[in-house]
Parts: sequence; C-alpha cells; structure tokens
Amino acid sequence: MHVFDTAILQKRFIVLEGLDGAGTTTQLRLLEQNMAQRGISCWATAEPTNLPSGQLIRRILAGDITVDPGTVAHLFAADRHEHVYGHNGIAEHAAAGQLVVSDRYVLSSLAYQGVTCGPSLPWQLNRHFPMPGLTFLFDLDPQEAARRLCERTHREIYEELTMQRKVRAMYQRMARRLEQRGWRIIRIDASLEIDTIAAILKREVLDFLAS
Ligand code: TYD
Repeated sequence: MHVFDTAILQKRFIVLEGLDGAGTTTQLRLLEQNMAQRGISCWATAEPTNLPSGQLIRRILAGDITVDPGTVAHLFAADRHEHVYGHNGIAEHAAAGQLVVSDRYVLSSLAYQGVTCGPSLPWQLNRHFPMPGLTFLFDLDPQEAARRLCERTHREIYEELTMQRKVRAMYQRMARRLEQRGWRIIRIDASLEIDTIAAILKREVLDFLAS
C-alpha cells in the first residue's frame, strides 16, 4: 500500500451521496462540465467501482450471486480500499492535483449496510478511510426516488421502497455521526430542479476550492 498524504484529500476530494434515484450521477456529470468550463481538472469516479471487486458487488446487487450481508459489507470496504489507495485511484489523482469527485463513498456503506447488517460492522470496516473535504447528501422522499427509478430498465436488490425508507433514515443518522467526527456534510433537497441543484453544487464547490 502506498503512503499518501491523506490531508490532501481534505482539499481535493468531494463526495455525492443519496438514495438510488436521488440524482447524484446526473449531478456528478454536470459538476464535471461546470468545473471543466472553469479550467478545473476534475476526476469523476464512483463506487462500486468498475474494478473486479466492484464488478463482483454488482453481480450480487443484481441478484446473480447470493452471499451473507456481512460479506457484502466487507466487499464494499475492499472495493473502497482499492478505489482510494490502488493504482490510478483517488489518492493518486488528488496527489496529482486533480479535484476528485466520487458518486458514493463511506456514507453509502454506513447507510445501506447499516440497514442490512446493523451499524456496527460497517462502522468498524470504514472508520479508517480518509475523510473527504466535502460531502453532499441528496435527500429525497423514497416514493419520489422510486418513481424516478421506474423509468430505469434494470433494478437492484436495494431499490425496494421499504428498504429505501430505512436507508434514508440511516443516512441521516450516520451523517450526524460523521459530522460529530469532523466531516463537512451539506444537505441538498433533491426534489429541486436539476439546474438549481447544479448551480448550488457549483457555488459550494468553488467556495470549497477557494477556502
Ligand atoms: P449505484 O450508485 O446505484 O450504482 P449504479 O447507478 O451504477 O447502479 O450503486 C449501486 C448500489 O450500491 C446502490 O443501491 C447503493 C449500493 N451501495 C451500498 O450498498 N454500499 C456502498 O458502500 C456503496 C458504495 C453502494
């Protein structure tokens, strides 16, 4: 494992979080474009990754393979470790001076696996990952999120409404816990118009980079 100055992530690492259907992926693309227009080099990335660990996770989420929920929690943590410290990963991109923006990170595990395994295992598995400089938590009524997901073709095991309600509550609970440990988390009302949210994100990120 490379030794990186993880303090650099405090300056250059941003995360987008929220329920399936909350719009993080759309906003990641818009943020990337907005940063490019300002000449800011941005590496947009996501978890689960496209690495072998992430591909295995996607097969589990699609229901092709069944494993114990605790195994899923470990796999997400392993995928995250590679994402942060592996070749071409988050730490490397940030050290090279890029702004790194990830669609999901530690808070996703605390929220989703917090529901499927209880909070203690995901907390144990994730407590050593470096803190991002800024996290946006997209909050949306699960019914509205489910309506948006209906427009998609493929569905995953975590997308049922009851599960999403629990995940939303766990997101709020775990976000408060992380804030007590120094994480900076900005809540976004994900029911707002796409352009309105994009403008909020752009302003907050530019402020963050200037601070
Ligand atoms: P998602 O962002 O929806 O990927 P895609 O849009 O490519 O399908 O992520 C897939 C699912 O993984 C989503 O339901 C949230 C879940 N997830 C966890 O349960 N724990 C985690 O740590 C992460 C990163 C994601």
